Amino acid sequence: MAKRNARFVCQHCGGVTTKWAGKCEACGEWNSIVEEMDGGGIGGGPGRKPRRGRVVPLLPLVGATDSAPRIVSGIGEFDRVTGGGFVRGSALLVGGDPGIGKSTILIQAAAELARRGQRVVYISGEEAVAQVRLRAERLGLLDAPLQLAAETSVEDILTTLEAGERPALVIIDSIQTIWTEMAESAPGSVAQVRTSAQALIRYAKESGATVVLVGHVTKEGTIAGPRVVEHMVDAVLYFEGDNAGHFRILRAVKNRFGPTDEIGVFEMTGKGLREVPNPSELFLGERSRASPGAAVFAGMEGTRPVLVEVQALVAPSPLGTPRRAVIGWDSARLSMILAVLEAHCGVRFGQHDVYLNIAGGLRIQEPAADLAVAAALVSSLAGATLDPTSVFFGEVSLSGLVRPVAHAMLRLKEAEKLGFMTAVAPASRGGEERGPSPMRLDTVEQLADLVARVA
Ligand code: TYD
Ligand code: MG
Repeated sequence: MAKRNARFVCQHCGGVTTKWAGKCEACGEWNSIVEEMDGGGIGGGPGRKPRRGRVVPLLPLVGATDSAPRIVSGIGEFDRVTGGGFVRGSALLVGGDPGIGKSTILIQAAAELARRGQRVVYISGEEAVAQVRLRAERLGLLDAPLQLAAETSVEDILTTLEAGERPALVIIDSIQTIWTEMAESAPGSVAQVRTSAQALIRYAKESGATVVLVGHVTKEGTIAGPRVVEHMVDAVLYFEGDNAGHFRILRAVKNRFGPTDEIGVFEMTGKGLREVPNPSELFLGERSRASPGAAVFAGMEGTRPVLVEVQALVAPSPLGTPRRAVIGWDSARLSMILAVLEAHCGVRFGQHDVYLNIAGGLRIQEPAADLAVAAALVSSLAGATLDPTSVFFGEVSLSGLVRPVAHAMLRLKEAEKLGFMTAVAPASRGGEERGPSPMRLDTVEQLADLVARVA
Protein backbone atom coordinates (compact mmCIF):
# COMPACT_ATOMS: atom_id res chain seq x y z
CA MET A 1 0.00 0.00 0.00
CA ALA A 2 1.46 3.32 -1.00
CA LYS A 3 2.01 5.88 1.70
CA ARG A 4 -0.66 8.56 1.87
CA ASN A 5 0.65 12.08 1.87
CA ALA A 6 -0.93 15.02 3.55
CA ARG A 7 -1.23 18.10 1.39
CA PHE A 8 -2.64 21.55 1.95
CA VAL A 9 -5.31 22.99 -0.28
CA CYS A 10 -6.65 26.56 -0.39
CA GLN A 11 -10.44 26.41 -0.05
CA HIS A 12 -10.74 29.63 -2.01
CA CYS A 13 -8.76 28.99 -5.19
CA GLY A 14 -7.85 25.31 -4.98
CA GLY A 15 -4.10 26.01 -4.87
CA VAL A 16 -2.03 23.16 -3.42
CA THR A 17 1.05 23.51 -1.14
CA THR A 18 3.14 21.06 0.81
CA LYS A 19 2.94 22.89 4.11
CA TRP A 20 0.36 24.91 5.96
CA ALA A 21 0.44 28.70 5.78
CA GLY A 22 -1.83 31.45 7.08
CA LYS A 23 -2.09 33.06 3.68
CA CYS A 24 -2.51 31.38 0.29
CA GLU A 25 0.42 32.24 -1.99
CA ALA A 26 -1.74 31.76 -5.08
CA CYS A 27 -4.76 33.97 -4.38
CA GLY A 28 -3.76 35.94 -1.29
CA GLU A 29 -6.71 34.71 0.79
CA TRP A 30 -6.14 34.41 4.57
CA ASN A 31 -7.03 31.37 6.67
CA SER A 32 -8.21 29.39 3.68
CA ILE A 33 -5.67 26.55 3.71
CA VAL A 34 -6.85 23.18 4.97
CA GLU A 35 -5.02 19.86 5.27
CA GLU A 36 -6.28 17.11 3.00
CA MET A 37 -5.22 13.51 2.61
CA ASP A 38 -3.86 12.63 -0.78
CA GLY A 39 -4.33 9.28 -2.49
CA GLY A 40 -7.37 7.06 -2.54
CA GLY A 41 -8.67 9.25 -5.37
CA ILE A 42 -11.11 8.32 -8.08
CA GLY A 43 -10.56 5.17 -10.03
CA GLY A 44 -9.58 2.94 -7.15
CA GLY A 45 -6.48 4.69 -5.75
CA PRO A 46 -2.90 3.45 -5.81
CA GLY A 47 -3.74 -0.25 -6.08
CA ARG A 48 -5.45 0.11 -9.45
CA LYS A 49 -4.14 -1.88 -12.40
CA PRO A 50 -3.56 0.11 -15.61
CA ARG A 51 -5.93 -0.72 -18.41
CA ARG A 52 -5.43 -0.37 -22.17
CA GLY A 53 -7.51 2.51 -23.60
CA ARG A 54 -9.29 2.49 -26.93
CA VAL A 55 -7.80 4.51 -29.82
CA VAL A 56 -10.10 5.73 -32.58
CA PRO A 57 -9.32 7.59 -35.82
CA LEU A 58 -9.95 11.34 -35.94
CA LEU A 59 -11.83 10.98 -39.25
CA PRO A 60 -15.56 10.86 -38.63
CA LEU A 61 -17.48 7.69 -39.36
CA VAL A 62 -19.39 7.64 -42.63
CA GLY A 63 -22.72 9.37 -42.18
CA ALA A 64 -21.80 11.01 -38.87
CA THR A 65 -22.80 14.65 -38.51
CA ASP A 66 -20.04 17.20 -38.45
CA SER A 67 -21.34 19.24 -35.52
CA ALA A 68 -21.74 18.27 -31.88
CA PRO A 69 -24.99 16.38 -31.28
CA ARG A 70 -27.26 18.63 -29.30
CA ILE A 71 -30.51 18.51 -27.40
CA VAL A 72 -32.50 21.70 -27.77
CA SER A 73 -33.95 22.79 -24.42
CA GLY A 74 -36.88 24.57 -25.99
CA ILE A 75 -36.11 27.76 -24.08
CA GLY A 76 -34.79 29.91 -26.90
CA GLU A 77 -32.75 32.32 -24.79
CA PHE A 78 -31.07 29.39 -23.03
CA ASP A 79 -30.22 27.65 -26.30
CA ARG A 80 -28.81 30.89 -27.69
CA VAL A 81 -26.25 31.04 -24.87
CA THR A 82 -25.22 27.39 -25.06
CA GLY A 83 -24.79 27.74 -28.82
CA GLY A 84 -27.82 25.73 -29.89
CA GLY A 85 -28.70 23.39 -27.03
CA PHE A 86 -27.10 20.99 -24.61
CA VAL A 87 -24.25 18.97 -26.14
CA ARG A 88 -24.57 15.25 -25.42
CA GLY A 89 -21.92 13.95 -23.06
CA SER A 90 -20.83 17.40 -21.93
CA ALA A 91 -20.74 18.98 -18.50
CA LEU A 92 -21.99 22.49 -17.82
CA LEU A 93 -21.55 24.71 -14.79
CA VAL A 94 -24.29 27.26 -14.12
CA GLY A 95 -23.11 29.82 -11.58
CA GLY A 96 -24.80 32.75 -9.94
CA ASP A 97 -25.61 34.44 -6.65
CA PRO A 98 -27.97 32.61 -4.32
CA GLY A 99 -31.56 33.54 -5.12
CA ILE A 100 -30.85 34.77 -8.64
CA GLY A 101 -32.98 32.02 -10.21
CA LYS A 102 -30.62 29.16 -11.14
CA SER A 103 -32.93 26.46 -9.80
CA THR A 104 -35.90 28.12 -11.44
CA ILE A 105 -34.44 28.36 -14.95
CA LEU A 106 -33.03 24.84 -14.79
CA ILE A 107 -36.25 23.24 -13.66
CA GLN A 108 -38.06 25.11 -16.44
CA ALA A 109 -35.58 23.88 -19.05
CA ALA A 110 -35.69 20.37 -17.58
CA ALA A 111 -39.48 20.28 -17.73
CA GLU A 112 -39.46 21.46 -21.36
CA LEU A 113 -37.14 18.62 -22.31
CA ALA A 114 -39.08 16.03 -20.31
CA ARG A 115 -42.30 17.09 -22.04
CA ARG A 116 -40.66 16.22 -25.33
CA GLY A 117 -40.03 12.66 -24.23
CA GLN A 118 -36.43 12.83 -22.94
CA ARG A 119 -35.48 11.32 -19.59
CA VAL A 120 -34.48 14.20 -17.36
CA VAL A 121 -33.38 13.81 -13.76
CA TYR A 122 -33.26 16.76 -11.39
CA ILE A 123 -31.21 16.04 -8.28
CA SER A 124 -31.51 18.50 -5.45
CA GLY A 125 -28.99 18.53 -2.65
CA GLU A 126 -30.49 21.65 -1.14
CA GLU A 127 -34.21 21.15 -1.15
CA ALA A 128 -36.43 18.19 -0.32
CA VAL A 129 -38.39 16.60 -3.16
CA ALA A 130 -41.59 18.14 -1.75
CA GLN A 131 -40.08 21.62 -2.00
CA VAL A 132 -38.94 21.08 -5.56
CA ARG A 133 -42.39 19.79 -6.44
CA LEU A 134 -43.98 22.84 -4.83
CA ARG A 135 -41.83 25.09 -6.99
CA ALA A 136 -42.70 23.09 -10.11
CA GLU A 137 -46.37 23.44 -9.25
CA ARG A 138 -46.00 27.18 -8.89
CA LEU A 139 -44.32 27.28 -12.29
CA GLY A 140 -47.12 25.23 -13.86
CA LEU A 141 -44.79 22.33 -14.70
CA LEU A 142 -46.57 19.47 -12.93
CA ASP A 143 -47.61 17.87 -16.23
CA ALA A 144 -43.95 17.30 -17.23
CA PRO A 145 -42.65 13.75 -16.64
CA LEU A 146 -39.60 15.05 -14.81
CA GLN A 147 -37.80 12.78 -12.35
CA LEU A 148 -36.83 14.29 -9.02
CA ALA A 149 -34.45 13.05 -6.36
CA ALA A 150 -33.01 14.54 -3.20
CA GLU A 151 -29.48 13.14 -2.85
CA THR A 152 -26.10 14.44 -1.76
CA SER A 153 -23.79 11.47 -2.21
CA VAL A 154 -22.14 10.96 -5.58
CA GLU A 155 -22.20 7.19 -5.16
CA ASP A 156 -25.95 7.25 -4.47
CA ILE A 157 -26.53 9.61 -7.39
CA LEU A 158 -24.63 7.42 -9.85
CA THR A 159 -26.46 4.31 -8.65
CA THR A 160 -29.81 6.11 -9.00
CA LEU A 161 -28.94 7.20 -12.53
CA GLU A 162 -27.85 3.77 -13.61
CA ALA A 163 -31.25 2.32 -12.79
CA GLY A 164 -33.58 2.67 -15.75
CA GLU A 165 -33.23 4.27 -19.13
CA ARG A 166 -30.18 6.43 -19.86
CA PRO A 167 -31.01 10.08 -19.04
CA ALA A 168 -30.54 12.84 -21.61
CA LEU A 169 -30.05 15.52 -18.97
CA VAL A 170 -29.03 15.40 -15.32
CA ILE A 171 -29.14 18.50 -13.14
CA ILE A 172 -27.17 18.60 -9.90
CA ASP A 173 -28.36 21.47 -7.69
CA SER A 174 -25.89 22.35 -6.27
CA ILE A 175 -22.34 20.98 -6.54
CA GLN A 176 -21.45 22.56 -3.18
CA THR A 177 -23.83 20.21 -1.35
CA ILE A 178 -22.50 17.04 -2.99
CA TRP A 179 -19.93 14.77 -1.34
CA THR A 180 -18.19 11.53 -2.19
CA GLU A 181 -16.63 8.70 -0.21
CA MET A 182 -13.57 9.02 -2.46
CA ALA A 183 -12.45 12.24 -0.75
CA GLU A 184 -11.82 12.43 2.94
CA SER A 185 -12.44 16.08 3.74
CA ALA A 186 -15.68 17.72 4.80
CA PRO A 187 -18.56 18.30 2.33
CA GLY A 188 -18.30 21.73 0.70
CA SER A 189 -14.47 21.71 0.78
CA VAL A 190 -12.51 22.08 -2.43
CA ALA A 191 -11.40 18.44 -2.39
CA GLN A 192 -14.99 17.23 -2.06
CA VAL A 193 -16.34 19.50 -4.74
CA ARG A 194 -13.48 18.70 -7.12
CA THR A 195 -13.65 14.94 -6.64
CA SER A 196 -17.46 14.90 -6.85
CA ALA A 197 -17.43 17.05 -9.99
CA GLN A 198 -14.81 14.78 -11.54
CA ALA A 199 -16.96 11.70 -10.97
CA LEU A 200 -20.07 13.41 -12.36
CA ILE A 201 -18.22 14.74 -15.40
CA ARG A 202 -16.86 11.28 -16.04
CA TYR A 203 -20.39 9.96 -15.87
CA ALA A 204 -21.40 12.52 -18.53
CA LYS A 205 -18.60 11.48 -20.89
CA GLU A 206 -19.26 7.79 -20.44
CA SER A 207 -23.05 7.80 -20.61
CA GLY A 208 -23.57 10.55 -23.19
CA ALA A 209 -25.89 12.44 -20.83
CA THR A 210 -25.53 16.19 -20.37
CA VAL A 211 -24.71 16.98 -16.76
CA VAL A 212 -25.48 20.44 -15.43
CA LEU A 213 -23.78 21.41 -12.19
CA VAL A 214 -25.18 24.38 -10.30
CA GLY A 215 -22.69 26.46 -8.32
CA HIS A 216 -23.19 29.35 -5.94
CA VAL A 217 -21.03 32.38 -6.43
CA THR A 218 -19.42 34.48 -3.72
CA LYS A 219 -19.57 38.26 -3.60
CA GLU A 220 -16.23 38.53 -5.36
CA GLY A 221 -17.82 36.90 -8.36
CA THR A 222 -16.14 33.51 -8.25
CA ILE A 223 -17.83 30.18 -7.75
CA ALA A 224 -17.45 29.74 -3.98
CA GLY A 225 -14.35 27.70 -3.27
CA PRO A 226 -14.41 25.33 -6.22
CA ARG A 227 -13.17 27.62 -8.93
CA VAL A 228 -11.38 24.48 -9.99
CA VAL A 229 -14.67 23.17 -11.38
CA GLU A 230 -14.64 25.94 -14.00
CA HIS A 231 -11.58 24.38 -15.58
CA MET A 232 -13.05 20.89 -15.56
CA VAL A 233 -16.36 21.47 -17.34
CA ASP A 234 -17.01 22.13 -21.03
CA ALA A 235 -19.02 25.29 -20.52
CA VAL A 236 -19.55 27.82 -17.75
CA LEU A 237 -22.68 29.95 -17.76
CA TYR A 238 -23.27 32.77 -15.32
CA PHE A 239 -26.69 33.91 -14.31
CA GLU A 240 -26.57 37.55 -13.28
CA GLY A 241 -28.70 40.62 -12.69
CA ASP A 242 -29.56 42.50 -9.53
CA ASN A 243 -31.64 40.56 -7.06
CA ALA A 244 -33.94 43.53 -6.54
CA GLY A 245 -34.66 44.13 -10.22
CA HIS A 246 -36.43 41.59 -12.36
CA PHE A 247 -34.03 41.29 -15.30
CA ARG A 248 -31.79 38.25 -15.42
CA ILE A 249 -28.96 37.76 -17.89
CA LEU A 250 -27.44 34.41 -18.73
CA ARG A 251 -23.92 34.72 -20.11
CA ALA A 252 -21.43 32.12 -21.26
CA VAL A 253 -17.94 32.79 -19.91
CA LYS A 254 -16.50 29.58 -21.31
CA ASN A 255 -17.91 27.33 -24.00
CA ARG A 256 -16.07 24.55 -25.77
CA PHE A 257 -18.93 24.07 -28.20
CA GLY A 258 -20.23 27.55 -28.90
CA PRO A 259 -19.79 31.30 -28.69
CA THR A 260 -19.07 33.16 -25.47
CA ASP A 261 -20.45 36.52 -26.46
CA GLU A 262 -24.16 35.70 -26.63
CA ILE A 263 -26.47 36.60 -23.77
CA GLY A 264 -29.90 35.28 -22.85
CA VAL A 265 -32.28 37.76 -21.28
CA PHE A 266 -35.05 36.76 -18.89
CA GLU A 267 -37.57 38.48 -16.71
CA MET A 268 -38.44 37.08 -13.27
CA THR A 269 -42.21 36.96 -12.93
CA GLY A 270 -44.57 35.38 -10.40
CA LYS A 271 -44.67 32.36 -12.71
CA GLY A 272 -40.95 31.86 -13.09
CA LEU A 273 -38.54 33.21 -15.67
CA ARG A 274 -39.95 34.52 -18.91
CA GLU A 275 -37.83 34.81 -22.03
CA VAL A 276 -37.24 38.28 -23.40
CA PRO A 277 -36.60 37.85 -27.12
CA ASN A 278 -36.31 41.59 -27.66
CA PRO A 279 -34.16 42.95 -24.82
CA SER A 280 -33.96 46.51 -26.16
CA GLU A 281 -37.62 47.12 -25.45
CA LEU A 282 -37.15 45.88 -21.93
CA PHE A 283 -34.01 47.87 -21.16
CA LEU A 284 -35.47 51.03 -22.64
CA GLY A 285 -38.91 50.36 -21.17
CA GLU A 286 -37.50 51.38 -17.81
CA ARG A 287 -36.49 54.75 -19.19
CA SER A 288 -37.88 57.77 -17.43
CA ARG A 289 -38.28 61.03 -19.30
CA ALA A 290 -35.17 62.48 -20.86
CA SER A 291 -32.81 64.04 -18.34
CA PRO A 292 -29.23 65.30 -18.38
CA GLY A 293 -26.68 62.49 -18.22
CA ALA A 294 -28.72 59.87 -20.08
CA ALA A 295 -27.64 58.61 -23.51
CA VAL A 296 -28.93 55.60 -25.43
CA PHE A 297 -26.20 53.28 -26.67
CA ALA A 298 -26.89 51.12 -29.71
CA GLY A 299 -24.86 48.07 -28.72
CA MET A 300 -24.35 44.49 -29.80
CA GLU A 301 -24.48 41.42 -27.57
CA GLY A 302 -23.14 38.60 -29.67
CA THR A 303 -25.13 38.60 -32.90
CA ARG A 304 -27.99 40.63 -31.51
CA PRO A 305 -28.33 44.42 -31.29
CA VAL A 306 -29.33 45.69 -27.85
CA LEU A 307 -30.23 49.27 -27.05
CA VAL A 308 -29.52 50.35 -23.52
CA GLU A 309 -29.38 53.58 -21.57
CA VAL A 310 -26.02 54.83 -20.29
CA GLN A 311 -26.47 57.04 -17.21
CA ALA A 312 -23.86 59.46 -15.92
CA LEU A 313 -23.88 61.74 -12.91
CA VAL A 314 -21.19 64.39 -12.71
CA ALA A 315 -21.35 66.39 -9.49
CA PRO A 316 -18.98 68.89 -7.81
CA SER A 317 -16.77 67.01 -5.37
CA PRO A 318 -15.91 68.03 -1.81
CA LEU A 319 -12.98 65.59 -1.89
CA GLY A 320 -9.36 66.25 -2.81
CA THR A 321 -9.42 63.16 -5.01
CA PRO A 322 -12.86 63.00 -6.60
CA ARG A 323 -14.73 59.71 -6.73
CA ARG A 324 -15.14 57.61 -9.87
CA ALA A 325 -17.66 54.78 -9.61
CA VAL A 326 -18.80 52.52 -12.44
CA ILE A 327 -21.47 49.83 -12.64
CA GLY A 328 -21.78 47.73 -15.79
CA TRP A 329 -18.72 49.07 -17.62
CA ASP A 330 -14.94 48.98 -17.37
CA SER A 331 -13.58 51.57 -14.94
CA ALA A 332 -10.24 51.82 -16.78
CA ARG A 333 -12.17 52.66 -19.93
CA LEU A 334 -14.05 55.42 -18.07
CA SER A 335 -10.76 56.93 -16.91
CA MET A 336 -9.59 56.89 -20.51
CA ILE A 337 -12.69 58.68 -21.81
CA LEU A 338 -12.37 61.30 -19.04
CA ALA A 339 -8.71 61.83 -19.98
CA VAL A 340 -9.50 62.19 -23.68
CA LEU A 341 -12.31 64.66 -22.93
CA GLU A 342 -9.88 66.73 -20.82
CA ALA A 343 -6.91 66.55 -23.16
CA HIS A 344 -8.61 67.01 -26.53
CA CYS A 345 -11.90 68.76 -25.80
CA GLY A 346 -11.04 70.96 -22.82
CA VAL A 347 -13.80 69.46 -20.67
CA ARG A 348 -12.59 69.24 -17.08
CA PHE A 349 -13.74 66.71 -14.50
CA GLY A 350 -10.90 67.27 -11.97
CA GLN A 351 -13.22 68.90 -9.41
CA HIS A 352 -16.12 66.52 -9.96
CA ASP A 353 -17.27 63.10 -8.77
CA VAL A 354 -18.24 60.90 -11.69
CA TYR A 355 -20.73 58.04 -11.47
CA LEU A 356 -21.57 55.85 -14.44
CA ASN A 357 -24.26 53.20 -14.62
CA ILE A 358 -25.61 50.94 -17.35
CA ALA A 359 -29.39 50.60 -16.97
CA GLY A 360 -31.09 47.27 -16.40
CA GLY A 361 -28.09 45.51 -14.82
CA LEU A 362 -26.43 44.92 -18.20
CA ARG A 363 -22.64 44.69 -18.32
CA ILE A 364 -21.19 46.19 -21.49
CA GLN A 365 -17.83 45.05 -22.83
CA GLU A 366 -17.74 46.74 -26.22
CA PRO A 367 -15.50 49.77 -26.83
CA ALA A 368 -18.32 50.92 -29.14
CA ALA A 369 -19.99 52.34 -26.02
CA ASP A 370 -17.27 55.04 -25.73
CA LEU A 371 -19.27 57.65 -27.62
CA ALA A 372 -22.45 57.08 -25.64
CA VAL A 373 -20.48 57.27 -22.38
CA ALA A 374 -18.80 60.50 -23.48
CA ALA A 375 -22.20 61.95 -24.47
CA ALA A 376 -23.72 61.03 -21.09
CA LEU A 377 -20.74 62.54 -19.22
CA VAL A 378 -20.73 65.81 -21.12
CA SER A 379 -24.51 66.06 -20.92
CA SER A 380 -24.48 65.63 -17.14
CA LEU A 381 -21.62 68.08 -16.64
CA ALA A 382 -23.33 70.71 -18.80
CA GLY A 383 -26.78 70.02 -17.35
CA ALA A 384 -28.05 69.73 -20.93
CA THR A 385 -30.50 67.04 -21.98
CA LEU A 386 -29.59 65.00 -25.05
CA ASP A 387 -32.12 64.59 -27.83
CA PRO A 388 -34.25 61.67 -26.57
CA THR A 389 -34.68 60.34 -30.10
CA SER A 390 -30.91 59.89 -30.65
CA VAL A 391 -28.72 56.84 -30.21
CA PHE A 392 -24.92 56.84 -29.94
CA PHE A 393 -22.16 54.42 -30.87
CA GLY A 394 -18.48 54.64 -31.80
CA GLU A 395 -15.08 53.88 -30.35
CA VAL A 396 -12.95 56.75 -29.07
CA SER A 397 -9.19 56.61 -29.58
CA LEU A 398 -6.60 58.23 -27.33
CA SER A 399 -6.05 60.87 -29.98
CA GLY A 400 -9.66 61.98 -29.69
CA LEU A 401 -10.80 60.46 -32.97
CA VAL A 402 -14.08 58.58 -33.17
CA ARG A 403 -13.55 55.27 -34.94
CA PRO A 404 -16.13 53.17 -36.75
CA VAL A 405 -17.32 49.94 -35.15
CA ALA A 406 -18.65 46.67 -36.52
CA HIS A 407 -22.31 45.99 -37.32
CA ALA A 408 -23.34 49.62 -37.82
CA MET A 409 -26.25 48.45 -40.00
CA LEU A 410 -27.72 46.14 -37.37
CA ARG A 411 -27.44 48.85 -34.74
CA LEU A 412 -29.18 51.39 -36.97
CA LYS A 413 -31.97 48.99 -37.88
CA GLU A 414 -32.67 48.17 -34.25
CA ALA A 415 -32.76 51.87 -33.32
CA GLU A 416 -35.09 52.58 -36.22
CA LYS A 417 -37.38 49.74 -35.18
CA LEU A 418 -37.69 51.24 -31.72
CA GLY A 419 -38.61 54.67 -33.02
CA PHE A 420 -35.31 56.53 -32.79
CA MET A 421 -34.72 59.19 -35.46
CA THR A 422 -31.01 60.03 -35.29
CA ALA A 423 -27.82 58.06 -34.82
CA VAL A 424 -24.76 59.96 -33.65
CA ALA A 425 -21.89 57.83 -34.90
CA PRO A 426 -18.70 57.89 -37.00
CA ALA A 427 -19.07 57.50 -40.77
CA SER A 428 -19.11 53.75 -41.33
CA ARG A 429 -16.29 52.00 -43.11
CA GLY A 430 -16.72 52.06 -46.84
CA GLY A 431 -18.80 49.34 -48.38
CA GLU A 432 -21.57 49.00 -45.83
CA GLU A 433 -24.77 49.72 -47.76
CA ARG A 434 -27.50 51.41 -45.79
CA GLY A 435 -30.43 51.37 -48.16
CA PRO A 436 -33.35 53.79 -47.81
CA SER A 437 -34.07 54.50 -44.15
CA PRO A 438 -35.75 57.29 -42.22
CA MET A 439 -32.85 57.26 -39.69
CA ARG A 440 -30.72 60.36 -39.90
CA LEU A 441 -27.00 59.71 -39.49
CA ASP A 442 -25.26 62.51 -37.63
CA THR A 443 -21.60 61.71 -38.24
CA VAL A 444 -18.83 62.71 -35.83
CA GLU A 445 -15.15 62.41 -36.64
CA GLN A 446 -13.67 63.83 -33.46
CA LEU A 447 -14.87 63.65 -29.90
CA ALA A 448 -14.73 67.45 -29.92
CA ASP A 449 -17.53 67.44 -32.58
CA LEU A 450 -19.77 65.67 -30.09
CA VAL A 451 -18.87 68.03 -27.26
CA ALA A 452 -19.66 71.03 -29.44
CA ARG A 453 -23.10 69.59 -30.17
CA VAL A 454 -24.01 68.77 -26.57
CA ALA A 455 -22.66 71.66 -24.55
P1 TYD B 1 -34.04 30.26 -7.21
O1 TYD B 1 -34.25 29.66 -8.53
O2 TYD B 1 -34.38 29.44 -6.01
O3 TYD B 1 -32.59 30.83 -7.04
P2 TYD B 1 -31.19 30.05 -6.92
O4 TYD B 1 -31.42 28.64 -7.24
O5 TYD B 1 -30.30 30.77 -7.89
O6 TYD B 1 -30.70 30.26 -5.52
O7 TYD B 1 -34.89 31.60 -7.23
C1 TYD B 1 -35.32 32.11 -6.04
C2 TYD B 1 -35.89 33.51 -6.22
O8 TYD B 1 -36.75 33.64 -7.33
C3 TYD B 1 -36.70 33.81 -5.00
O9 TYD B 1 -36.22 35.03 -4.47
C4 TYD B 1 -38.09 33.92 -5.47
C5 TYD B 1 -38.00 34.17 -6.94
N1 TYD B 1 -39.06 33.54 -7.73
C6 TYD B 1 -39.99 34.31 -8.36
O10 TYD B 1 -40.00 35.53 -8.27
N2 TYD B 1 -40.97 33.69 -9.12
C7 TYD B 1 -41.03 32.35 -9.24
O11 TYD B 1 -41.94 31.84 -9.95
C8 TYD B 1 -40.04 31.56 -8.56
C9 TYD B 1 -40.06 30.06 -8.65
C10 TYD B 1 -39.07 32.19 -7.82
MG1 MG C 1 -31.35 27.00 -5.94
